[in-house]
Amino acid sequence: MNDGQIIAGFLAPHPPHLVYGENPPQNEPRSQGGWEPLRWAYEHARRSLEELKPDVLLVHSPHWITQQGHHFLGVRNLNGKSVDPIFPNLFRYKFELEVDVELAEACCNEAADMGLTTKMMRNPNFRVDYGTITTLHMIRPQWDIPVVGISANNSPYYLTTEEGLEEMDVLGKATRKAIEQTGRRAVLLASNTLCHYHFHEEPVPPEDMSQEHPQNYAGYLWDMRMIDLLRQGKISEVFKVLPQFIDEAFAEVKSGAFTWMFAAMDYPELPGELYGYGTVIGTGNAVMEWNLIKAGLAKAA
Ligand SMILES: [Fe+2]
Repeated sequence: MNDGQIIAGFLAPHPPHLVYGENPPQNEPRSQGGWEPLRWAYEHARRSLEELKPDVLLVHSPHWITQQGHHFLGVRNLNGKSVDPIFPNLFRYKFELEVDVELAEACCNEAADMGLTTKMMRNPNFRVDYGTITTLHMIRPQWDIPVVGISANNSPYYLTTEEGLEEMDVLGKATRKAIEQTGRRAVLLASNTLCHYHFHEEPVPPEDMSQEHPQNYAGYLWDMRMIDLLRQGKISEVFKVLPQFIDEAFAEVKSGAFTWMFAAMDYPELPGELYGYGTVIGTGNAVMEWNLIKAGLAKAA
């Protein structure tokens, strides 16, 4: 097999509030809803994913933090309870997922060959982080597509932002090679919030949407500027201003998923489709898709 390809990439942020607002049976806490515009955006993304019919979903999550190198889920079947340490009142989710171990190993090996420190995660009782689970639930609540989970190495926080993101660029290129070699039709999920300034207290109840708005106006303006560039397909310009955006909007894209995804897609100068934008406890979140089939950069099934 060597006809593997990336068929789409999604900006797919992971505020656990979105799962809480939806009340799926897997999540213990109950809500009266909330954050509907973002949840409707994900419904739109779900319909698009359904048409794409991928073999595998790859997700890079800022909340599986590894100090040494880039780690990959490496156990075929994982299940357990994922709890958000900041919002355990909102997210206690019973997960059950299937990992595409062959592809994960290929990603791990390719990235090592390209000079990164990598490791397969083989602990059968591993608790998958809430970022990975939230993004996967929001994009595909049926849990019927195998996944590859990739950790966020902390390099952007120990090195300069630019040096750390260079590693994520290499990780993306390695991911692309592994997908091509293993013959997978793959969808990439960048599990990132944009502006990450947030409120420090929750309203009662947390889903009281009369209290939800951007925490920081300058951060909101940055989000609008970035979304505008992404919708126009000015990807090289996005990456030129990315370090400044990260510094000034405290943007979560610093942790690498966004760079990983675009590097894997070879930075296409392609307009992204915006499905929706909304704030969650003041942070900025956009659900967007880059459909490489529609753009003629990948083949339909
Ligand atoms: Fe986060």
